[in-house]
Amino acid sequence: MAAPIFILLPLAFLFITATSQGQKNISLTDTLTPSSNSPWFSPSGAFAFGFYQRGGGCYVGVFLPGTSNKTAVWTYGRDNPPLPRNSTLGFSSGVLVLQSAEAPDAYVTTPVGGSTASASMLDSGNFVLYNSNQEVIWQSFDTPTDTILGGQSLSASQELHSSASDTDPSTGLFLAIMQLDGVLALYPQGTPLTADYGYWDSQTPNNGPDVTLHLEDDGFLYLLKPPGVYLKNFTSQGVRKEDMIYLARIDPDGIFRLYSYNITRKDDRSVEMYVPTDRCKPKGICGLNGYCVNVDQNPQCACLPGFVSVEDGNGTAGCERNFTVESCRNPTASFDMQPVPNTTWEYDTYSALKLLTKDECLEACQQDCNCEAVTYDASQSCNKQKLPMRFGRSIPDGNSNPQLYVKVGAAGPVATERHGFE
Ligand SMILES: *[C@@H]1O[C@H](CO)[C@@H](O)[C@H](O)[C@H]1NC(C)=O
Ligand SMILES: *[C@@H]1O[C@H](CO)[C@@H](O)[C@H](O)[C@H]1NC(C)=O
Ligand SMILES: *[C@@H]1O[C@H](CO)[C@@H](O)[C@H](O)[C@H]1NC(C)=O
Ligand SMILES: *[C@@H]1O[C@H](CO)[C@@H](O)[C@H](O)[C@H]1NC(C)=O
Ligand SMILES: *[C@@H]1O[C@H](CO)[C@@H](O)[C@H](O)[C@H]1NC(C)=O
Ligand SMILES: *[C@@H]1O[C@H](CO)[C@@H](O)[C@H](O)[C@H]1NC(C)=O
Ligand SMILES: *[C@@H]1O[C@H](CO)[C@@H](O)[C@H](O)[C@H]1NC(C)=O
Ligand SMILES: *[C@@H]1O[C@H](CO)[C@@H](O)[C@H](O)[C@H]1NC(C)=O
Repeated sequence: MAAPIFILLPLAFLFITATSQGQKNISLTDTLTPSSNSPWFSPSGAFAFGFYQRGGGCYVGVFLPGTSNKTAVWTYGRDNPPLPRNSTLGFSSGVLVLQSAEAPDAYVTTPVGGSTASASMLDSGNFVLYNSNQEVIWQSFDTPTDTILGGQSLSASQELHSSASDTDPSTGLFLAIMQLDGVLALYPQGTPLTADYGYWDSQTPNNGPDVTLHLEDDGFLYLLKPPGVYLKNFTSQGVRKEDMIYLARIDPDGIFRLYSYNITRKDDRSVEMYVPTDRCKPKGICGLNGYCVNVDQNPQCACLPGFVSVEDGNGTAGCERNFTVESCRNPTASFDMQPVPNTTWEYDTYSALKLLTKDECLEACQQDCNCEAVTYDASQSCNKQKLPMRFGRSIPDGNSNPQLYVKVGAAGPVATERHGFE
């Protein structure tokens, strides 16, 4: 068949040129620009350092040059605006300098231990700067963005932050942290890092601050407690294959995935492991007053009854009322209490009532002009809630406990035709 040859040729070429360069240092007189020359390749050609394009913008980082979208594994200044096309990157007085119209002298690296005497894009995917004693003074492995690679680890307090989307490498909605108690945990961005807010963890508590997450270049991903206790193996130890590379990443959808890439085959990528397995678990994947529903393993956002999507096709933007809000001064309109079955939320109770029947509970909310929702549970607790509701998701087992009821009025002037699903 002709097709495989066609795919292999450009990469075979890449390998020959890269290998013929051997382990040569990057010349400190080289400069990179987004459009003109090629990036700095690792000897195998699997990794490159330089400019890459994303969503119409330009960024600097380490990426997989053999993949069609130049999968990035490390990004410099991800929350800065995209770089102008006339940016240049090069060494100046021993530091790597990024020059652009917006930032005339932004330093990419802040080396300690002397100025750069040589630099290397290693086959591990680590971009390293050395001083004149061949000591490492800076390496991209020390400041991971959303990814760790084979040979890289995440030590206590280190975090990975998801990207906003596949086309926007800026900081997104989720983070992974190697906690000081030995737990690897996932959280929404901007919440306290406590069990109440986490949406997945490795269940390895009370193991102290020296536990690290390791990814080996054979794809073995595990938590290690020195001197040699394997607290948790996410995958099993394998045999290193020259043509395979592994990366573990917290993705824009909040799922932590281990990927393998066959570097001789463009875009041949597999998911080796992922957590959590319920893709609706990441808290905040659907915005305020919305909740996540798994439809054929794909997370979709739905709105509370009486609510409509704020931005069509963007569940993260959340939902708003499709009816006029109740006024305490002029209680006129009538409101219904509608159930939101088989869902769970973050509950923020402002008034807790005990030992009511369900009907009494719903009545209590209806008669309180400040009450916007209520939960009722099997122990006859009736908890009044205020909007917005957040971190909602459907739960499969029915009979949700507590059960949420939301106060809904007749549609008023804010009404527009919108879809509840993404
Ligand atoms: C890379 O540069 C360093 C420092 O200049 C030098 O000592 C080393 O031999 C160089 N390595 C190679 C492979 O050229
Ligand atoms: C590359 O990016 C485009 C646009 O975002 C996307 O449609 C496509 O699926 C991506 N391809 C791969 C292999 O990730
Ligand atoms: C980059 O381009 C902009 C506009 O095209 C120009 O104003 C600016 O001077 C250029 N910067 C450099 C460093 O060439
Ligand atoms: C984890 O992996 C290590 C290294 O392969 C192995 O020695 C250990 O037995 C594994 N632990 C479990 C629970 O599988
Ligand atoms: C990677 O792809 C090449 C080319 O198709 C194939 O020969 C090789 O067996 C693959 N490697 C692995 C580890 O699957
Ligand atoms: C979706 O909405 C969120 C929150 O308002 C916003 O940050 C994000 O940029 C939106 N995404 C798209 C693709 O418009
Ligand atoms: C809630 O879950 C139960 C049990 O799975 C199911 O019978 C019921 O139809 C569900 N309700 C809704 C509204 O989806
Ligand atoms: C919003 O309210 C209007 C007016 O009553 C109604 O026609 C429309 O169907 C409602 N939209 C949704 C999504 O419920």
